[in-house]
Amino acid sequence: MTFMDAGGPEVLRLDSVPMPVRTNAELLVKVVAAGVNPIDAKTRAGRGAFGAIATFPAVLGNDFSGIVVESPYEAHALQPGTEVYGMGMVPRMSGAYAEYLTVTELSVVRKPPTLSHVEAAGVPLAALTAWGMVVDTAKAHEGQRMLIHAGAGGVGHFAVQFAAYFGAHVIATGSTRNLRWLKELGASEVIDHSTERFEEVLDEVDVVIDLIGNVLDDTASRSLTVLRPGGLIVNGPTGSWPSMRTEAEAAGVRATGYRVAPDGSTLAVISRLIESRDVRVFVDGVYDLADAAEAHRALEGGHTRGKLVLKVCEG
Ligand SMILES: NC(=O)c1ccc[n+]([C@@H]2O[C@H](COP(=O)([O-])OP(=O)(O)OC[C@H]3O[C@@H](n4cnc5c(N)ncnc54)[C@H](OP(=O)(O)O)[C@@H]3O)[C@@H](O)[C@H]2O)c1
Repeated sequence: MTFMDAGGPEVLRLDSVPMPVRTNAELLVKVVAAGVNPIDAKTRAGRGAFGAIATFPAVLGNDFSGIVVESPYEAHALQPGTEVYGMGMVPRMSGAYAEYLTVTELSVVRKPPTLSHVEAAGVPLAALTAWGMVVDTAKAHEGQRMLIHAGAGGVGHFAVQFAAYFGAHVIATGSTRNLRWLKELGASEVIDHSTERFEEVLDEVDVVIDLIGNVLDDTASRSLTVLRPGGLIVNGPTGSWPSMRTEAEAAGVRATGYRVAPDGSTLAVISRLIESRDVRVFVDGVYDLADAAEAHRALEGGHTRGKLVLKVCEG
């Protein structure tokens, strides 16, 4: 699945591209399923990573689940035939909306046997982002009051589960249909963004995990008012809030952006939480690779629950 130039979902086309060439400590992987993420849609539309794409047609897609076809050397732990999942970084690594990709061994781990390839493909980018924001940056811990915006989304449903797992008091925002589900995931309190203004019902929050930014209804700016003095907001949709630093300083709180990176070691920890069933992935929709445009339309609707995944072949 390639695109030649920025545009709407219709620019995505099923195409033949040369087989990616594995080098050094990379693996060649046969892709069974690929995750669909907002960065894919943003890049397709000419934002996101678009400016770093050197040649077209280009292949989108960062996270995947599949089967090793070639490993870097004979005694490598991930031998041909091993089921793996992980995350690349388009356009620095080859895209996952394809039958094959190459990826550094540092970004890949064995697929948890408890997950199908379709489920596994929904994990890496979203779960690593949630871990980076909630665990590494916000240091989720017992009793911490953590507000998570968009708790029902791809990143959000992992963020709610990780924060609850580490004992935080999770307050999640979502629409009416998702409130009960957010509680099942571990939220202690839920706020319906379609009927309530969170800043009217909340205060003394230690951390805001902001997965909306100022893209919608000044969510990031409004979040500053619910933080305790010195509290922290971690902003996911980087670029949507250019005045972040000055606004946070004026409000007497701390603010930081966040950017996910491929990370096999952390993904291995997440795998263990999945295998022990402390954390689960929810796949809202599965599309054939040929229907990637339809998946992008659904994602850009802004209300998918959990993840959307592209099925590339039978695993
Ligand atoms: N910086 C990074 O490294 C990084 C990495 C990953 C993602 N991101 C960014 O983080 C954002 C979230 O990513 P994602 O994959 O989780 O997106 P997503 O799956 O598309 O998020 C969809 C969710 O947003 C919720 N939502 C929509 N409007 C809302 C509102 N006003 N208040 C609260 N929730 C609302 C929806 O819940 P309802 O249907 O219940 O409204 C839906 O479940 C995106 O902007 C993405 O680009 C950044």
